[in-house]
Amino acid sequence: MYSDKLIDHFRNPRNMGRMENPDGIGKVGNPVCGDVMYLYIKIKDNKIDDIKFETFGCAAAIGTSSVITEMAKGKTLDEALKITKKDVVDAVGGLPPIKMHCSVLAADALRAAIEDYRKKKGSGNDKPKDS
Ligand code: FES
Repeated sequence: MYSDKLIDHFRNPRNMGRMENPDGIGKVGNPVCGDVMYLYIKIKDNKIDDIKFETFGCAAAIGTSSVITEMAKGKTLDEALKITKKDVVDAVGGLPPIKMHCSVLAADALRAAIEDYRKKKGSGNDKPKDS
């Protein structure tokens, strides 16, 4: 069954909700069950200054989403990119084998949000010119 830590994060999720004007958004769907997670980040000095999530999914998905926001907050982007799904599973004290796929959402959504931020930043403010 679920660990006490996972149940705590499911019942009292940290950093849950939508973020106004995020610097990066990661949206990931789980092909196994169809659940969806949105992860929003604000970046300051190349660090994750703020992070929020909205997860439409099971208890394991919500619990791991909540945990990864705590793990990623304050980290540099490169440090945050190193967080693996195993790190997330370990941080919640393990998951039942049948729920292991649920931990993929959180790690993938964080990566997607960072990539989104880097893509937007890389493109600068230049708009494509109409001619
Ligand atoms: Fe869908 Fe857990 S059952 S993420």
